[in-house]
Order: sequence, then structure tokens, then C-alpha cells
Amino acid sequence: MRTIAVMNQKGGVGKTTTSVNLAAGLARQGRRVCLIDLDPQAHASIHVGVDLHGGTDTIYQVLSGSKTFNEIRQMVGNNLWLGPANLDLAATELELVDAPGREFVLRKALEAAQASEQFDYIVFDCPPSLGVLTINALTAATEVFIPLQPHFFALQGLSKLFETTALVTRRLNRQLKVSGIVLCLYETGTRLATDVTDDLMRFLEASDPQAPWAGARVFGSKIRRNIKLAEAPSFGQSIFDYAPGSAGALDYTGLCQEVMQAEVPMARAA
Ligand SMILES: Nc1ncnc2c1ncn2[C@@H]1O[C@H](COP(=O)(O)OP(=O)(O)O)[C@@H](O)[C@H]1O
Ligand SMILES: [Mg+2]
Repeated sequence: MRTIAVMNQKGGVGKTTTSVNLAAGLARQGRRVCLIDLDPQAHASIHVGVDLHGGTDTIYQVLSGSKTFNEIRQMVGNNLWLGPANLDLAATELELVDAPGREFVLRKALEAAQASEQFDYIVFDCPPSLGVLTINALTAATEVFIPLQPHFFALQGLSKLFETTALVTRRLNRQLKVSGIVLCLYETGTRLATDVTDDLMRFLEASDPQAPWAGARVFGSKIRRNIKLAEAPSFGQSIFDYAPGSAGALDYTGLCQEVMQAEVPMARAA
């Protein structure tokens, strides 16, 4: 099983769009995928069409210890499951603040649920902060994907993210690797997008080979700005259901292909 945390402390960079369409795209390729929504705003849950009214059980119950993961996950499509979120999750930051082992609650819950036998992939949609929810994703994950919108300040934020990941790697989860940067909301043909992408590649090439992000690369599949991607959430559909012929569907198909190329044959669940 591969566990991917889609993370960036900035909002509006494409985390949720990438989490949902990556999860949906991998599921269409026959992988068993669980998308876990860790953002109290619940955009990923809404994006896959889950109705959050009427007391849906969510990841909040899992993190507060009142339900098991298997009790709250729901099937939302062929090969696709969701660990939903809702606004209750906002309380988790406070509730876990003094709890012993607070960084490992999610990881333990997934282990107890034998998630690695149920799924080929888990994808965590992280909130736009570096608080306890994101840390829980990072201790449960083996890979970090960073969606990045190529603009002038993007690289500044990136070093902060790399530092956080490095800290988590050292202290909490030796298996964690930043595996890729996904360029989102990409404006094809603009000077700025090309320049930032070049800077990013140079930065990664010049990095210390011992750095936890040393193996990171920029995915070749850039996600272009495409209105269909922005429309799909309000229909509760992935881009593949909402607009299968769109540039957005094409770009996320490319990303899924790249991700699957890194599969180790043994890593698939039976
Ligand atoms: N490639 C894209 N083209 C057009 N709109 C996009 C694209 N990626 C994301 N969006 C839109 O931009 C907004 C922010 O994206 P989102 O994935 O929710 O970011 P985050 O989860 O990082 O806050 C959303 O309204 C989303 O629909
Ligand atoms: Mg989001």
C-alpha cells in the first residue's frame, strides 16, 4: 500500500482537486483507493458527492477515539472509498493538543483497521495549515505530494514545507519522502510559469543529496488551469465523470500514470 499526503500550508493551490482526481483516477485504473479528508472544510467529501448532513460519521470520530476507521469509511465509487470530514474536525486541533501520542492517532487507527490489506493507495487531503491534522497525515504517510501554483512566492513557501517534512521525517516517521511536486493551475505558455518551473528544478537539483526531499521531482504532468476542474466539485463528481474529454481529465490521467509507474509490484493489496 502507498500512502500519499497531499499537502501545502497555503490554501487554493490545488490540494483538494489533486487529492480527489488522483484518487478517482487511480481507482479507474483498478487500484483500490481510500481518500481521507482531513480538512474541516470537507471540500474533498463534497467533491466526491457525499452528503454531510444527517450525522455522517467522520474522521473526527476516529481521531477522538469513538469509532474505528472501518466504521466511518464509505464506498463512493468503483474501487473508491472515502474517510469523510466535517466541521467537527476543527475541534481536533484543540482536543489533541495535550494528548500523549497525538501525532500518531491516525496512523494507529489505520493500522488497527488493517488498511494496508484493504487498499492499494490511501490519499490524504490535508488542510491548509501545518497543525496536528497535517502532522497526523505525515506520520501515517510514506509519500508527500506538494501541489504548487507557479508564481513568484511559491518557492519561499516551499522551503518551509520542506523543513516541516524534514522535521517529521527525523522525529516521527523515517519512511516519509517528498516524492513529487504537482504544478497546478498552470498557465501554459506564460513566462512566469516557465521561469518558476525552471527555478524549482534548479533548486531540487542543487539540494543536498541527504535532504529528505532530495529524491523529489516535479511531475511531468502539469495540471493546466481548466474551468471544468473548478466546476466538477459542485456536481459531486470527479473530472473523469464530469468532463472526461477535458484538459483537466487528460492532465490528471497523465499524473496517475506517472504515479503508477513508481509502483512496486509487491505493494499492491491482494
Ligand atoms: N487546474 C485548475 N483549473 C481551474 N481551477 C482549479 C484548478 N485546480 C483547482 N482549481 C480551483 O481552484 C480552487 C482551489 O483549489 P483546491 O483544490 O480547492 O485548493 P486547496 O485544496 O489547496 O485549497 C477551487 O475552486 C478549485 O476548483
Ligand atoms: Mg482543500
